[in-house]
Amino acid sequence: MKTKVTVVGGGNVGATVAQGIAAKELADVVVVDIVEGVPQGKTLDLMETAPVEKYDSILTGSNGYDETENSDVVVITAGLPRKPGMSRDDLLWKNEEIVGGVTREIVRRSPKCIIIVVSNPLDAMCEVARRVSKFPRERVLGMAGVLDSARMRAFIAMELKVSVENTHAFVLGGHGDTMVPLPRYSTVAGIPITELISKERIDAIVDRTRNGGAEIVNLLKTSAWYAPGASTVEMVEAILKDKRKILPCAAYLQGEYGYKGLFVGVPVKLGRNGLEEIIQIKLTDEEKAGLDKSAAAVQELVEKLKTQ
Ligand code: NAI
Ligand code: 2OP
Repeated sequence: MKTKVTVVGGGNVGATVAQGIAAKELADVVVVDIVEGVPQGKTLDLMETAPVEKYDSILTGSNGYDETENSDVVVITAGLPRKPGMSRDDLLWKNEEIVGGVTREIVRRSPKCIIIVVSNPLDAMCEVARRVSKFPRERVLGMAGVLDSARMRAFIAMELKVSVENTHAFVLGGHGDTMVPLPRYSTVAGIPITELISKERIDAIVDRTRNGGAEIVNLLKTSAWYAPGASTVEMVEAILKDKRKILPCAAYLQGEYGYKGLFVGVPVKLGRNGLEEIIQIKLTDEEKAGLDKSAAAVQELVEKLKTQ
């Protein structure tokens, strides 16, 4: 049986994820969307791209869930994107309803799948998917840290005029304005950026990273999709290839970093079982205070959820 990934939501992010998975031949892909013609049209377009791009993944589009049966991984991008002036938190109620409904349909047909949530507000939507699916924490993860770290890496590379390949960056916490970029753990060719960039410029990079989503929304009048799509594909690849790659992901903490029963972005070893291990790193008092603030912001949203 071939590996199957379902992508729910065939909009900007979902279609980019489907394209990335096919381009890397990670799996066959089913795209589900409520808009008639959209998942069918986009997947047909991607099937017609295959001869040129040389991939043999089969892509199918649907307005229902029968085709998703026995998916290995399900990526949830369904929902409303952020509009100018709208915070991620404004999306809470509407996307809770959407993500809850989608999760119900998914788990009925793919009880063993690993769920990667992308819909915002990210950490709260992960909790909705966890509550509805009743999956163990190993199989419900959220994509945000890979994106936030990629943005920070891009800004570091621009600042030092070096290859992005030389950069590593660590961003922890919730996917919101309180996220916690960690310059001490961010490096260029193994050298901490604190030794290469002035404090003033690091502060500017940290600030730009925190506002990376809003910066794009202000330009495009809708949210980003290329980097979010690529970041999600990196997580899918780590899982399907059992790479045991350490990536920052939203994970349900059970005491790690001092939090219990809450999704927070932390370094996770990703493999065929999904979350294989949560990596705990030492934080300074200031970094921990930032993470506490970010976790409190997630907690506040989770308390507003209607899903039990
Ligand atoms: P989009 O509007 O382009 O696509 C969303 C798609 O979901 C639409 O095609 C819509 O028809 C579909 N949809 C709505 N309700 C549905 C349902 N019940 N079942 C199936 N499909 C449904 O939006 P975009 O840009 O793709 O963003 C999707 C979500 O991802 C948003 O919530 C956005 O805020 C979030 N996002 C999260 C990021 C992260 O780092 N976690 C990064 C970028 C976006
Ligand atoms: C982003 O960070 C809006 O969460 C989305 O681009």
